Amino acid sequence: MFETLPLLPADPILGLSIAYAKDTNPLKVDLGVGVYKNDVGVTPIMAAVAAAEKLRIQQETTKAYTPPAGYPGANEACQKLIYGAGHPAVEANRVRTIQTPGGCGALRVAAELIQRAKRGATLWVSVPTWANHIPLLGNAGLSLKEYPYYDYATHSINFPAMLATLKEIPRGDLVLLHACCHNPSGADLSCEQWNQVADVCEANGIIPFVDMAYQGFGEGLEEDAYGLRLLASRLPEVIIATSFSKNFGLYRERAGALSFVFADEAQADAGNSQLLSVTRALYSMPPSHGAALIDLILHNGELTKLWSDELTLMRERIAGLRVQLVQSLNQLQKQRDFSFIANERGMFSFLGLSVEKVHKLKSEYSIYITDTSRISVAGLTAEKMDYVSKAIVAVL
Ligand SMILES: Cc1ncc(COP(=O)(O)O)c(C=O)c1O
Repeated sequence: MFETLPLLPADPILGLSIAYAKDTNPLKVDLGVGVYKNDVGVTPIMAAVAAAEKLRIQQETTKAYTPPAGYPGANEACQKLIYGAGHPAVEANRVRTIQTPGGCGALRVAAELIQRAKRGATLWVSVPTWANHIPLLGNAGLSLKEYPYYDYATHSINFPAMLATLKEIPRGDLVLLHACCHNPSGADLSCEQWNQVADVCEANGIIPFVDMAYQGFGEGLEEDAYGLRLLASRLPEVIIATSFSKNFGLYRERAGALSFVFADEAQADAGNSQLLSVTRALYSMPPSHGAALIDLILHNGELTKLWSDELTLMRERIAGLRVQLVQSLNQLQKQRDFSFIANERGMFSFLGLSVEKVHKLKSEYSIYITDTSRISVAGLTAEKMDYVSKAIVAVL
């Protein structure tokens, strides 16, 4: 039977990592995958995570199944991280949060629940959006449409065009928004722009579906949640998919959360029962290790501080790399102004290079970036800055 299945090309981002691993050039640089690296190019285990792992080994007494929604303590702590303390939707008992296998798991489970509520519902996604949003959400059966977002010519959000499209979205459709650190552009909505998006969603009955994969990597843990907290305080229904892969460095543990704001408490109970029936049919229970570590860290004042301090250093390091890259590129040439890179947030920026130039960077300099010329700034180090900048200028 499987002879019917043709060989597929490698995933564009994961394929880059494979090609990078095979490259024998000692100068090679991986700016493809969105993984944080420190100044020696290593993705570290965060100190609070390492400490929590020790505690967990001492404390864990069983490997019996966790509850279907995951650890209640972890869910309560994640909810606080997402919504902040005393959020009105949480206080009104309209919010339900479950643990998921990473942010991808949260996105897919959300799509499955939307399908149950309204088969073939329409979800509007930004142009561009994270490439994996399309199969993750579309393969569940949602009908995907697009709204304009990033303008490659000005290296910024085309907000008037975005808003104009949002205003035309039919009542009851959903809109996918990136909470912060937009992937792939790095261009984020300002607070004022979030206010306007909330106005349109409220006036036109649009349901926001917020993907928050980088809380703490933009401006800060609280600041990065501004938009979703606003939406959750003003609208009857909001969906939030969260990943803890980046901000806890728990990539391989597959830690994430899916949170729904429902119209009232009774709908929240009904929705939650459906949610658990969706996950039961997909994977039964979520992975436990990453969530257990988050539970430990967020319920221990010292570990929470250790974690958020390290996250601050990571955020500041990326912001510093952005500034250094701009200085370096703008010093080496005058034909293009790269200042926009320093105004963006999170891991990604578009360099604005053609596919040809991107391929040249790979074949002649062993610098790996996606064909769209998206770079993961977090993959740079001070040592590689000069090499990377000169290579970019050489291919311009
Ligand atoms: C925008 C966005 N959403 C979701 C995810 C999924 O994260 P996870 O690795 O936790 O599944 C990512 C990961 O890169 C992402 O960039």
